[in-house]
Amino acid sequence: MKTLKVQQMPKLVWDESYATKIKAFDEQHEVIFTYINDLRDAMMGKKSEEIVNRTLKGLLQYSVTHFIEEEIVLLKYDYPDFDSHQKSHQKFTEEVRRLFVEYKSGKANSRIIAAEITAIVTEWLQIHILQEDFAYTEFLMSKGIQ
Ligand SMILES: [Fe+2]
Ligand SMILES: [Fe+2]
Repeated sequence: MKTLKVQQMPKLVWDESYATKIKAFDEQHEVIFTYINDLRDAMMGKKSEEIVNRTLKGLLQYSVTHFIEEEIVLLKYDYPDFDSHQKSHQKFTEEVRRLFVEYKSGKANSRIIAAEITAIVTEWLQIHILQEDFAYTEFLMSKGIQ
């Protein structure tokens, strides 16, 4: 996966172009964007290890909670692409978890790993929302969810 340097990453602004039109999920995506920006600011502002650590952990925990919430709704309504959507969440979670373990182990340069995680999460989430999350809008709306 190609990654950008944190300094090159534009601030993420949630606007209508990211709207899945499913209110709860749009609100959660917006919170994730805020976490990503906080992390980017923490890293660029050369904040303490503790703040970077706390923000990174918050971002990862919140993202996993969001994935579960989406999966609960998609499973409940028998979304036809449930398996591939869940797999996509899982693949991403495993990759980030692996990097987070490396980050916490203190074996490698933690700043570089934190930057790598930030770049991967930023890139992946935007693409995931715009492609895979957008794909469930019509289906969920047809089930009366909004
Ligand atoms: Fe999502
Ligand atoms: Fe998703």
